Amino acid sequence: MNVLVTGGAGYIGTHTCVELLNRGDRVIVLDNYVNSSPAALRGVEQITGRTFPVYEADLMDYNAVKRVFSENQIDAVIHFAGLKAVGESVSKPLDYYRNNLIGTLNLLEVMKEHDVKKLVFSSSATVYGMNNEPPFREDMPRSTTNPYGATKLMIEDMLRDLCYACKEWSVVLLRYFNPIGAHESGLIGENPNGIPNNLMPYIVKVAAGELPCLSIYGGDYPTPDGTCIRDYIHVYDLAMGHLKALEYLGHMQGAEAINLGTGKGYSVLEVVQAFERATGRTVNHKMAPRREGDIAACYADVSKARELLHWEAVKTLEEMCRDSWNFAARNGARQ
Ligand code: NAD
Ligand code: WQD
Repeated sequence: MNVLVTGGAGYIGTHTCVELLNRGDRVIVLDNYVNSSPAALRGVEQITGRTFPVYEADLMDYNAVKRVFSENQIDAVIHFAGLKAVGESVSKPLDYYRNNLIGTLNLLEVMKEHDVKKLVFSSSATVYGMNNEPPFREDMPRSTTNPYGATKLMIEDMLRDLCYACKEWSVVLLRYFNPIGAHESGLIGENPNGIPNNLMPYIVKVAAGELPCLSIYGGDYPTPDGTCIRDYIHVYDLAMGHLKALEYLGHMQGAEAINLGTGKGYSVLEVVQAFERATGRTVNHKMAPRREGDIAACYADVSKARELLHWEAVKTLEEMCRDSWNFAARNGARQ
């Protein structure tokens, strides 16, 4: 299969490209490197021993998107490209609406013109909002508390409307829970600029001695140890979920939302302990006030993914921690 991967140089994109190439698919990457670099794609080439066309292009540039479709035979698209930092989306809402919505609209218009009607879209567990009880099921009411989440809701709706209007489209809306980990080679992984907002990159920097201490946001939640519970999923498992979703596109029509998580929740303290066990490093930590917008517990009901995609996550929390650390260590984290 010939697969266009938008945002293919990013964290989840690179891992998905590796598994697509390993399976023998042909990959075309479009990325403007706003949150990545060409080095990540060299990692993909190194792991797979394969080369592939890469377009440095912005999805907001309609003509650039058209060129990619004119110059390549494309059977399906995996659409990762988007801005994804929740906090930044609150301070720069227009950037998020412009990039995520206009980028997606351009992509869909060009797909339509070129008669490419199979799409896997990166949605997020953030669409379950603050008012549902976990485990989250795909048919629960959706809501959001920030512009980033609003773009995911709007794009999900846009895609449903498109599928309603034109029955030839096949779209899978994959709702990811908390992706962590890295390729076991340590050649690709997550490498945020500056001080990380997310838990695992922060833990890694504390373990490496680059930051002094992890603040655990809230020890008074109604959970067994008082800290928040999340459904962490290895980025390899997530990548494999995309391969299964592409297969599923071949025998479905319309838009289908599917959770990608493990179905198991771990608390912040459990993640810290698992990281220490898996790596032998110490993670200095202290309790801090709750972070605005956090919910006590968020984990997936994974039965739909199992039924429709014949997919489930296989990697353990220890493997996620070990691979996150291995990537950081190979890429200059202080030992
Ligand atoms: P990432 O930032 O590492 O990757 C996104 C890629 O898209 C980057 O390489 C960036 O340069 C590119 N990009 C952004 N805007 C673009 C544009 N206008 N034109 C071309 N390229 C553009 O993020 P990720 O963690 O790999 O996430 C991929 C997708 O999954 C995103 O849509 C994100 O919202 C979604 N998602 C991520 C998580 C997570 O925790 N990582 C969770 C749920 C959903
Ligand atoms: C995990 C837990 C924090 C940092 C985010 C997005 C979500 C999705 C995945 C894109 C929480 C705690 C964190 C720290 C801490 N992304 N924490 N100290 O918030 O569950 O989800 O990424 O779609 O939309 O919101 O992930 O990694 O930020 O936090 O105690 O320094 O770790 O409070 O309980 P979150 P996270």
